[in-house]
Formats: sequence, C-alpha cells, structure tokens
Amino acid sequence: MKNFKILFLAFLFIINGNLFAQKDDSFIVRPYLQIGPNPNSQSIEILWQTAQVDAQWSLEYKTAENGTWTKANPPLMSEIKAKGINPRYLFTVTLNNLQPGQEFFYKVMRNGSDQFASKGKTLKAADQAYKFIAFGDIGANTREQKDIAMQAFKTNPDFVAVTGDIVYNRGLITEYDSKFWPIYNAEKADTNGVPMMSYIPFVAAPGNHDIETRNLDSYPEALAYYMFWSQPLNGPQKPEGSVLVPHLIANDENRASFLKSAGSKYPAMANFSFDYGNAHWTILDSNPYVDWTNKEILDWVEKDLAAAKNATWHFVMFHHPGFNSSRAHYEQQHMRLLSPIFEKGGVDVVFNGHVHNYQRSFPLTFKPDDNGDIVASEDLKRVRGRIVSGKWTLDKKFDGKKIKSPQGVIYIVSGAGGNDLYNVDQTTDTDNWMKFTSKFVSDVHSFTLAEVNGKTLEIKQITATGKVLDKFVIEKK
Ligand SMILES: [Fe+2]
Repeated sequence: MKNFKILFLAFLFIINGNLFAQKDDSFIVRPYLQIGPNPNSQSIEILWQTAQVDAQWSLEYKTAENGTWTKANPPLMSEIKAKGINPRYLFTVTLNNLQPGQEFFYKVMRNGSDQFASKGKTLKAADQAYKFIAFGDIGANTREQKDIAMQAFKTNPDFVAVTGDIVYNRGLITEYDSKFWPIYNAEKADTNGVPMMSYIPFVAAPGNHDIETRNLDSYPEALAYYMFWSQPLNGPQKPEGSVLVPHLIANDENRASFLKSAGSKYPAMANFSFDYGNAHWTILDSNPYVDWTNKEILDWVEKDLAAAKNATWHFVMFHHPGFNSSRAHYEQQHMRLLSPIFEKGGVDVVFNGHVHNYQRSFPLTFKPDDNGDIVASEDLKRVRGRIVSGKWTLDKKFDGKKIKSPQGVIYIVSGAGGNDLYNVDQTTDTDNWMKFTSKFVSDVHSFTLAEVNGKTLEIKQITATGKVLDKFVIEKK
C-alpha cells in the first residue's frame, strides 16, 4: 500500500510538474514559459503576474533534480495598467546556459520564501526530435476547450503553437484571466485545466479576436497580446497608420497606459520568426488591416525564408486561412497572395485557424491572377479580406502513407480547439468542399499533433477522446 502511495504521488508529480502548490494570494498568473525575443535551445523566459509591487521576487533553478539551486538574475518588472482593472506587475526572468531540449527545475520565491516550483523544458536543438501541438480559436471557456487541453496535455508536447484567437471576444486582460490562464496554466491537471504553460512554452499568432480591437477608449484593456506574450520582435518594423499597423483609438491616458504596459513589444510582435529544433517558423499577422499586397512586407517574408534555407523544415503560422472550404469565412482569401513566396521559400506546412474546424489541403501551388478584389465589411468601414482567383496545381498522388514527398505546400486549418464549430454538415458533404481540400472534419473538436524526427514529419489530428481523425507523414530525402 505504501509503495502504491509513493507511485501515485510520483504519478501526480509527473502529470502536474509542479513540486508544490503556490500560496493562493501570490499570483494573478502563475509562472509560465515563453520563448522570449531571442529564442535558442539554451535559454527560456519565465514570467509571472502579481498584484504586489513591494514584495521581493527571485527565482532559482537547477538542471538536474539532485543538483544545487542557482540564483537567476533578478526579475525585470513592468507594470500592466489599464483603466478599469487593478494594476498588475509582470515579472520576467531569462535563464541562459540550459541544456538544449532538457528538463530543468525552477522555483519562484517571494521575500525569500518559496511560492511556486515546477519543471520546465528548454527548446530543442537542431539534432533533437520533438513534438508540438497546433490549435486555434481556443479561449472561449467551453467544455470542449478544456477537454482538448487535457488531451493535448496528455500527448506531452515540447511546445504549443496557437493559430490565433487566443481569447474571445476582444483580447482583453480579463478575458485571459477567465478563459486562458486557468485552462492552460492551471495549478494541477483536472477537468478544468492543465499545468502546461509552467512546463513548456506556448507560441502564438495573433487572430482577429486578439488584436483587431484597437479602440482603447471603449476597451482600455484590449491588446493584452502585447502585454502577456514574449516573442521575437524581428519582423518588419512599421509604425501605426502604416500598411502593417492600424491606428489606435485612444485618449492620451489610455494610450499612455497601453504603451507603457506593452513596452517594446508593440507594434512589432505581430510578425516574427524563430528556429525551433530543425525547423524555421514564420509567424504572420493575417488580420485584414494588413496590406499583404505591399512589396516591402512581402519582401520581408521572402528574405526571412531565404535566410533560413538550411533549416530542414519550414513552417508558417497565421490566423486567416487562404485555402478554406468552409462556407464560413470563405471570402477571406487574402493570404493566398503569399503562396508564391511560400513555394519559393520551401515552406512545408502552413498552420491556420479562424475557421472552427479541421481542414487539410492537398499539397498545392497557387499562382494568383492579380491582387484580387477587396471584400468590405457590412458597414463598408473595414476591409474583410480579398477574393483571390488564380491557378492552382494539386498533388493528388501524395497520400502521406506510401507517397510521402508532397509537391507543394500543405495548408492546415486547425481551428477546432475550443470555440463552437463551423459548418458541421460539411464533414460528410464532400460536394461542398473546394477541390483543393483533402480532409475536412467539422463535427468534432480537435487539435494537431506534429512529431518531427530529423527528416520525417508525422502529423495527426486528434479529438478530445484521443481519436485520430487524420494522419499523414512527410519525408525528406
Ligand atoms: Fe478568427
């Protein structure tokens, strides 16, 4: 019986990662990992949020469980402030000199007393195998979101890539508090949430529900994406009012609070790239206020991919899919304009969300006829996207089983991570699929699990009960 108890406690430890629970009043958001502005396989950022400004916070870490604790540099602190919410303080510690792809141990202390401890995992080096999850349209606080989170947690990924629409409805600070942190950064694994973010980093592409709300006078705590995430700032640099960044609507006070809270992350953090393992990732802002016909920003994507030509895999992630068979959002085709650049840059897979279901395209190449026709919003005040016609070539020989060398880019919509599903009837109604669509599952929530082992990539689409909806393998020579 005693042995059983020890085993059970060990199991809880493995599942939860946390060495001991934090005291309730310590954190608004428990410590979570981020790849930070300069991702590499020896470093990681650890962030936490608290209401206490006067406490002395510190962090210690070790690379082996029986090793000795090392004091990290003191945390950097920034204030997050917006009209209508209590100020909170964001603490950030960067750990360097970690072992690539290995577990490490860390504990966070307040005034010298332990508040939180967990294992963490660093980014993989180019010669290490790894697995990641991609899902989007998640933070809606639904039963399905939590069930998908639990199943994703059970697959023990090395990182999670969020394809946008991180929280609904307006990317607010308080929406993260109710629909995001409790589910992915929970204290322990149960039916309400999982302790994933304290152990592995999440990376996100911003969706429309994350950063389209820019009226800070109506929604002062919007654009929380720029406050809570810590991701590279190496994308195209353009100011407000440019082809890349719309104007804020904000009085002096609301503007000042936001700019101080976001710091250098605004507006740069919507487009960026980084390497993870043997893959290069390019993350783009597909919100339709971005003019993706602009040569300067297209050039950035082209150069980014060219500079990463030695990477084994090239993944691109953004929110609005260019190739989508759903009746919902079908007209938002503006990201098709980037297909020739993706093809030239050797992109293997594009991960999207926005459409709340799962879709996989045939490997394809696409040549747009022109820049397409602008689709306006109903009130004619906003651009919703573009209808982009053109010529595509589909590789229907690729089956991901016997024939594993695709001719073209595979586009995946993984937008069934939590919010209500779209066009459930289209799962079986294959007549209403576009010809570029190879798989379409809209009647169940799901997430994408990708396993990368050298030149082999296996992708599965998995439900909350672990059922595999789709599976294919790509192999490189
Ligand atoms: Fe969306």
